[in-house]
Formats: sequence, structure tokens, C-alpha cells
Amino acid sequence: MKPNPSLSDRALAHVQALHAYVPGKQPQDADWIKLNTNENPYPPSPRVAEAIAKEAGDPLRKYPNPICATLREELAQHFHLPSADWAFVGNGSDEILNLLIRIFCDEEKSAGYMVPSYSLYPVLLAIQNAKQVSVDFDGSMTLPVEEVANCGANLFFLTSPNAPTGVGFTTDTIRSLAEQYEGILVVDEAYGAFAEETAISLVEEFPNLCVTRTFSKSHSLAGMRVGYLLGNPELIDLLDKVRDSYNVNRISQVAGLAALSDVEYYDGLIGKIKETRDRYKKLWEGLGWFSYPSQANLIFTQPVNSRGETGPEVAKSLFDFLFGEKILVRYFGNDTRTDSFLRISVSSESEMETLNNKIDQWLKNA
Ligand SMILES: Cc1ncc(COP(=O)(O)O)c(C=O)c1O
Repeated sequence: MKPNPSLSDRALAHVQALHAYVPGKQPQDADWIKLNTNENPYPPSPRVAEAIAKEAGDPLRKYPNPICATLREELAQHFHLPSADWAFVGNGSDEILNLLIRIFCDEEKSAGYMVPSYSLYPVLLAIQNAKQVSVDFDGSMTLPVEEVANCGANLFFLTSPNAPTGVGFTTDTIRSLAEQYEGILVVDEAYGAFAEETAISLVEEFPNLCVTRTFSKSHSLAGMRVGYLLGNPELIDLLDKVRDSYNVNRISQVAGLAALSDVEYYDGLIGKIKETRDRYKKLWEGLGWFSYPSQANLIFTQPVNSRGETGPEVAKSLFDFLFGEKILVRYFGNDTRTDSFLRISVSSESEMETLNNKIDQWLKNA
């Protein structure tokens, strides 16, 4: 029997009104080529599997270190910050974004974000019933610094490099924003390892600026859920107040540590991905396809069909064709700035070649 009132009726009004975040599809069968969620095509460092195997037995009886102490220390050292007090680790960087909203946002204190950027921000804000402010990019996708600085939000999420475009903002641009903006500036560097610059050097200079990063993309650990924040110790203390007591499990902690230790391995992977990205971007430019300059492991490109046409129908037609060939890319059809583009994660040489052959086939028929 259905309870009366129903369970849904008893939920808070803002929860009833929620639309859950729709992540990129995650097909479980191996025959799909997945270029839709910017995962790394290459395996993690062999040190990760070794570390996990060691941790996977007896140590699991005990709770993990509640503050990820060793990982915080290593992160602070790796990024040349004064001490472990400047680092925080989360269950993916998504958890940290959520915690920041828990600390700084409610019905009166708003959070801001750029449009288009990471579409999870508005969803996390809606979950918390927090006020939202969005600032629009124009087609150039350059950052309107003054508009952001004056948007009035208590906290602002700046994705750099941005998703879905891949456009990165210079340290000078971010510094000039931090100088003018009075709220908490969260620079979401989920793709930072692929970029030319990072805002980490600003963390000590501006107490209201922090940087979030993740092992998911650059370090091939999307399945482990490990992200981190680098910021002022006062902010880290606030995060420690609101997180779950054991927010990162033992396996994830050792996996993150092992990955962080293998700098040479990951420098190699990241270099390879950047080289593949730049080559394919150029190749598609040869077909007349415009792509934004990408500093991430993705290419946001505007397909042109054999009749020289671009637009939402053309982009959607290529998306559907690739889907039929079991190749997943991402299409954002809800915004005129994105609806004639596809976002394609940069993959291994062989997957990119398969993709390119399928594009050739589509071009013959489209
Ligand atoms: C801009 C941006 N921030 C954060 C994340 C989340 O990363 P994580 O896997 O660490 O939760 C993503 C993942 O797609 C992203 O694109």
C-alpha cells in the first residue's frame, strides 16, 4: 500500500523539485569506445595496483586515516605549499565542491558559476537550496573578469581549463579576478594537469582563493574517487568541520599516494595525451572544423558536413552516427553556444584512429 501522504510529498519542497545530475553514459560492456567523460585512456601507474594489493587485506579491518594525513603532506610538498595544513582530500573533487557549498551557500548567500561550464554546480546548489548566480561567456569564451568580480556571489566556481570548451585562463587573468572579487574564488582545475598554467601559485597570495584538483583524469583514477583542494589553512579547518569523519577510504588513499609518487610515469601520459589532442585538433581544422584552443584532455569541435554546413543538426547527426558505431562522445544541445559542437575526450592513438575513420565514413554520407 502507498503511504499517504506519499514519501515524495513528505520530502522538502526543494528536493521534490530537483532534477538529478545526468552524467555522461557509462556503458559497462567493453566494446564501446568511451570519449564522453574525459577519462584517461591509459592505465594508472603500476605502483597503484601494488599499493592497493598491499592495503586490500588485513588493513581493511580498521578505519582509514580520517584526515588522509600522509596524502595531505605529500600534496603540500608536491605543490610547494608550506605544510599539510594547506591541503584537503575528498571522495573525488565533486565531494569537495559540495562541501564548499555546505560551508558558504544558502538561500541568501549565493554561489556563482560561468555558463557554459561544469553542469554539476547548479545541481549541487539546488540540492542545498542555495541561491545561484550565473555569468555568461560570449562566443569568444574569454573570462569577463569584471562581471564575475561584481556578481555578488559569496563563492564563485571558475573552471579552468573550462569544460566543455577546454579554454584555460592565465594566472594573470585569475590574479586580476582575485584582486577584485571579495568572495571565495574556487578555481576548479579538474583538467589542470593538462594546462599551460595553474592558479596554485596564487593560493598563498590570496586567502580567499583555493584550487580543486582530481586524480580522476590526469592520473587514470576516476574509479577510485580521489580529489583534493589546496587552500588557506583556515579554509581547510572549515572543510574538516563539515566532511564525513572518514570521507576517503583506505584503498583510495593509498592509490592516490602511489599515483602522486610516480611523477615520471604521469608526465609521460600527460605529454602523450596533449600531443594526441593537438594533432587531432589540427587534423580536424584541416577539414574546416573550428575547435576552441584546448588545455584539457578534450577537444570541443564544431563538425562541418560534406555540404559545408555546421549547426545543431550537423553536430547531432555526427553524435548519432558515432553512437550507432558504439563510439560515445558528448553533445550539449541545450545552449546555442554549445549546440553545434561535440566534446570529444582525447583517447589512445588506436581509439582516435577508429574515431577518425568513422568521421570519414560519416562525411561521405552526411
Ligand atoms: C570541471 C570538473 N570538475 C570536477 C569534476 C569531478 O571530478 P572528480 O572525479 O574528482 O569528482 C569534473 C569531472 O568531470 C569536471 O569536469
